[in-house]
Amino acid sequence: MALITGCSSGFGEAIASAFASEGYEVVATMRNPDNAPESLKAIAAETPDSFVLAPLDVTDAASRQAAVDLTVKRFGQIDVLINNAGIGARGSLEDTPEALWRKMFETNLFGPIELIRLVLPLMREQGAGRILNVTSVAALLKTPFMGAYCGSKHALDAATIALDTETRSFGVRAVCVMPGPFKTSLPANSLDREASEPYAKIAATFNSTFDGMEAHAPEDFTPVVEAALAAAHDADPDMRYPAGTEPVKILPPILEALAPLRKIGLHLTGQD
Ligand SMILES: NC(=O)c1ccc[n+]([C@@H]2O[C@H](COP(=O)([O-])OP(=O)(O)OC[C@H]3O[C@@H](n4cnc5c(N)ncnc54)[C@H](OP(=O)(O)O)[C@@H]3O)[C@@H](O)[C@H]2O)c1
Repeated sequence: MALITGCSSGFGEAIASAFASEGYEVVATMRNPDNAPESLKAIAAETPDSFVLAPLDVTDAASRQAAVDLTVKRFGQIDVLINNAGIGARGSLEDTPEALWRKMFETNLFGPIELIRLVLPLMREQGAGRILNVTSVAALLKTPFMGAYCGSKHALDAATIALDTETRSFGVRAVCVMPGPFKTSLPANSLDREASEPYAKIAATFNSTFDGMEAHAPEDFTPVVEAALAAAHDADPDMRYPAGTEPVKILPPILEALAPLRKIGLHLTGQD
């Protein structure tokens, strides 16, 4: 059984559909299920016993609790939590006001963390569970003019890897799904800040390069779906599941170099 956030479009829609095809019971959540994509409305109509559309604003505590309660009431368990919902924003650190930094972290970090805290007691009781956090290649790259987004994803990456060492003895594993650029509604909904004069020149270069990359980004989300399925199924999962072409292609040797860092957490907790 999988509880998935941010299913109104993009990766969340594709992942919810794929997990249903794999035989999972799914609670596909979104802020407003009335606006659910037709693909998911069709699955819910065809298989109402195993596929449910439900409201969830990840920044709202009551909404998080209600979605978890609904899932447990309906299916009695949560095997996989997929924290997919997220927002983006471009802007220099100086041009990005505190309110936007906070909104970014509320959505991309604190919401996922609080959902994890809600499902962990159940997963511990089950003696099994898998938590998939959709981060981004930006979590490692630390792209300029995207400090708030990269910061939120970097923090989620760190929290995920720490969590995985804390909960593995309960049978609960936490992993990052780390996509590169794909053509979703993320850029259209991005909370961009215009560059102030001192940043205008390099921001213009960045924006034109990044716009070009987004324009040529793949529209087929299969690599992300496959990464999510592997992250959910692998018996001893990796820390991070990269998905995509450019600039994800540079990741494998970097991730391989970082992999031994997990041993430190295992050593510190006597789990090596
Ligand atoms: N596209 C990429 O190139 C890319 C690359 C790396 C990582 N990612 C990550 O992939 C994840 C999915 O993004 P996407 O690319 O598929 O973009 P998307 O199509 O814009 O999907 C984002 C989803 O997040 C939801 N959302 C935003 N704020 C929310 C909130 N407060 N509560 C609940 N749901 C909320 C949106 O729902 P509403 O319809 O309610 O706004 C939407 O369903 C994000 O975490 C993103 O950072 C994307």
